[in-house]
Amino acid sequence: MQTEDIVDVYDLERITFAFPFPELYISLIFFQNPDLCFALEIDVNLSNNNNSYSKIIGFILGGRSSFKSEAHILSIAIHRNFRKKGYGKMILRYFITRVKELGFNSIKLEVRVTNNYAINLYEKMGFKRIRTIRKYYEDRENAYLYRLIL
Ligand SMILES: CC(C)(COP(=O)(O)OP(=O)(O)OC[C@H]1O[C@@H](n2cnc3c(N)ncnc32)[C@H](O)[C@@H]1OP(=O)(O)O)[C@@H](O)C(=O)NCCC(=O)NCCS
Repeated sequence: MQTEDIVDVYDLERITFAFPFPELYISLIFFQNPDLCFALEIDVNLSNNNNSYSKIIGFILGGRSSFKSEAHILSIAIHRNFRKKGYGKMILRYFITRVKELGFNSIKLEVRVTNNYAINLYEKMGFKRIRTIRKYYEDRENAYLYRLIL
């Protein structure tokens, strides 16, 4: 991810989540750990000619957990028009590979207990449910804490 992607990532965050991270917070996450933030860009072909343009259709914002050797997925999204095509798996797989190369030993994340799509994705990628965190979200929904040992 590059600095100029922050606006597009924020736009995607805003249309995806009921309680999106503010743009300033996304900037902070990116500048603290640019090596843990990834934007997925694809070329979109315009139907009436041979021209195409690039569009960010997904992202992962990562940080470091309080355990120094653990990475933390703070936000992940794929644009709704591009879901169920394998992009979520693709960007998460890429994140896991990069995090391993950077020397981390594990990855943790929180997910809403009702977010079955995301839970399926994480479990498919080998994440294990650790515990429930009560009233974790702004609307007081519980979260599951998941961890992947690398
Ligand atoms: C969760 C999310 C990132 C998945 O992205 P995606 O590109 O649709 O995922 P993929 O196409 O790579 O699918 C990966 C796995 O997710 C699960 N999944 C995807 N769509 C699903 C659906 N409609 N029903 C059940 N599981 C589904 C499946 O396990 C799938 O693996 P499979 O295709 O081998 O069965 C995407 O749905 C999203 O952006 N959701 C909104 C934001 C969000 O909830 N983020 C997570 C916050 S913790």
